Amino acid sequence: TWTIGNIAEEQIERIREQVGPDARAICALSGGVDSAVAAAIVQKAIGDRLTCVYVDHGLMRKGETEQIERDFVASTGAQLVVVDAEKQFLDALAGVTDPETKRKIIGREFIRTFEAAEVDIIKSAPEGSKVKFLVQGTLYPDVVESGGGEGAANIKSHHNVGGLPEDLEFELVEPLRALFKDEVRLVGEQLGLPPEIVWRHPFPGPGLGIRIIGEVTRERLDILREADAIAREELTRSGLDRDIWQFPVVLLADVRSVGVQGDGRTYGHPIVLRPVTSEDAMTADWARLPYEVLEKISTRITNEVREVNRVTVDITSKPPGTIEWE
Ligand code: XMP
Repeated sequence: TWTIGNIAEEQIERIREQVGPDARAICALSGGVDSAVAAAIVQKAIGDRLTCVYVDHGLMRKGETEQIERDFVASTGAQLVVVDAEKQFLDALAGVTDPETKRKIIGREFIRTFEAAEVDIIKSAPEGSKVKFLVQGTLYPDVVESGGGEGAANIKSHHNVGGLPEDLEFELVEPLRALFKDEVRLVGEQLGLPPEIVWRHPFPGPGLGIRIIGEVTRERLDILREADAIAREELTRSGLDRDIWQFPVVLLADVRSVGVQGDGRTYGHPIVLRPVTSEDAMTADWARLPYEVLEKISTRITNEVREVNRVTVDITSKPPGTIEWE
């Protein structure tokens, strides 16, 4: 019979064969379930010949970097390199407000940082153990969509970091090629990954960088991180996590409104809650969260996050709205 148990075993065996007894592999961890499960499978197959790289761009939500650094490593035993690139990303984003420009800068800095890490890993690999493989969390629906046949795909990574004469060229390892998302989550649970990673909602690559409307700064990120953590905590507490597709929390950083708290007037920022239901993110509906849950989130955010004095809910579907605000 076909069970989640033997899906994982089968993939581990297949990857052991693909990589062979000596070669090494690299995997970029995003914080999401796909890359984490893909890495966990490859780790089981080839152990320390896999090196995972996590670029901390400073745009993650509260606790996410620790979930990777601490809990992912503890549950998989994977070898992990964490690159602290917060300052580099924030410097590159200084003064930028246009959403597409933010995406371009974050994408560019990510590639630069990841390739520099690749070069270090290649240089420090033991003699006779070539770094030949790149792990990717491609799922079955992606394979079908791109009309992809059997994976002879090579990917060329054009680096400009210096140190290596030729372009980096890797063969892809894709442990999730036969799986749907819900199967990936089951395999992840079975491999003992932390539930926060296994059940995480989709989260955009540019992270909170596109959930701050206006310039991205460390101070604004900290405000948004606090508000977002409260919203997620209360959603989880309500038991509705798995009914909601995504729950962006957005900071209108250039808007201020007047409020009153205690004895005084406040002049703070609004937060937008954007819970949506969806099947595939192509279309979405605004989620009818119970009033009690919304009330709890609103009260806690305005009490606990000093800079925020107003909480609003986005009741726009997609179309015409998008899920994200940028
Ligand atoms: P929108 O906002 O277009 O989002 O309705 C659709 C889905 O895509 C995610 N999203 C992104 N993911 N990089 C990503 O990796 C991006 O720049 C990006 N922009 C949007 C969004 O979170 C939703 O799941």
